[in-house]
Amino acid sequence: MYNSKIIGLGKYVPDNVVTNDDLSKLMDTNDAWIQERTGIKERRWVEKGSGDTTATMGVKAAKVAIERSGLDKDDIDFIIFATLSPDMYFPGAGVQVQHALDIKTVGALDIRNQCSGFVYALSVADNFIKTGMYKNILVIGSELHSFGLDKTTRGRGVSVIFGDGAGAAILTREEDNTKGILSTHLHSEGQHAEELVLVAPGMGQRWVSDIIADNDPDDVSYFPHMNGQFVFKNAVVRFSEVIMEGLTNNNLQVDDIDMLIPHQANLRISQFIQRKFKLSDDQVFNNIQKYGNTTAASIPIALTEAWEEGKIKEGDTLVLAAFGSGFTWGSVVIKW
Ligand code: UT7
Repeated sequence: MYNSKIIGLGKYVPDNVVTNDDLSKLMDTNDAWIQERTGIKERRWVEKGSGDTTATMGVKAAKVAIERSGLDKDDIDFIIFATLSPDMYFPGAGVQVQHALDIKTVGALDIRNQCSGFVYALSVADNFIKTGMYKNILVIGSELHSFGLDKTTRGRGVSVIFGDGAGAAILTREEDNTKGILSTHLHSEGQHAEELVLVAPGMGQRWVSDIIADNDPDDVSYFPHMNGQFVFKNAVVRFSEVIMEGLTNNNLQVDDIDMLIPHQANLRISQFIQRKFKLSDDQVFNNIQKYGNTTAASIPIALTEAWEEGKIKEGDTLVLAAFGSGFTWGSVVIKW
């Protein structure tokens, strides 16, 4: 059995900065509410006509990650793409990356685990590498939320939180079992699926032809719905559990964490975890202030920025943790 390790990281965010004051022109909200409840100051939203899509942003992040890895694109054996906002309902975005990067006909897998998508994707990649099936895997998390949000006061509880962007990582085989990804831990609790949900265009509730025929302006099934307080309460519990699970599994203590990179769901959630585990500011990375919650893209964007800022050094113990719609949650423990 091999380990896997990350040898290249990249990110891409659209140029268009949307501040909280910009949002207050679209809906009944304000900078003070958004900052106090979420920590978010601004986010990036793709501008119509810019050409950015979930797939193209993922490709841009991937190109940076591939270049930094020192590999050639044709060294990549497999592609994993995590998103809840694919360009098309089907096929998934992975095949678009295979085509855009002009990589030989390797497999492309799409992961649908929302905020936990990148953690799930890393786990799949790690296990493919562990078994020896693949050697170099491109893992992408990318989201374009802004085209699908209800930007009226009706949708303010959701739309002020989410941002667009992409991050990518190249994983390769590591023969030293004490290095790289040490373990991954995945969970789900589907009884809460409808607490954070986008119903349409799923086939489970109504026929798409009926939705079109109804042409109902009050139909919110095409907008994401979130029971914010319920999600928040579950998030803080599950984040804590799954971080501890990762540490315990590797005989590590909270003190051993050099860097915790939580999914950027809400700054208050990250601060709660930081206080609970008595971590210093240097041990927890947050950038939700600049980008909002980019779901599957948030961990790879944060990981890339932390690395770019020199905050991750060889030998460091990293913990990645995520929680979101499903509910799904998970963690990854890495010896960098
Ligand atoms: O990434 C996946 C996982 N997602 C999460 O972890 C998100 C978890 N939840 C949250 O982050 C928070 O619940 C929110 C930020 C979504 C909401 O914060 P909250 O403190 O739970 O607020 P709330 O939903 O209880 O709403 C409080 C009040 C309500 O008004 P009333 O009923 O008290 O009069 C809302 O209508 O704030 C109102 N409100 C807003 N006001 C201004 C809701 N959204 C807004 C807004 N601007 N954007």
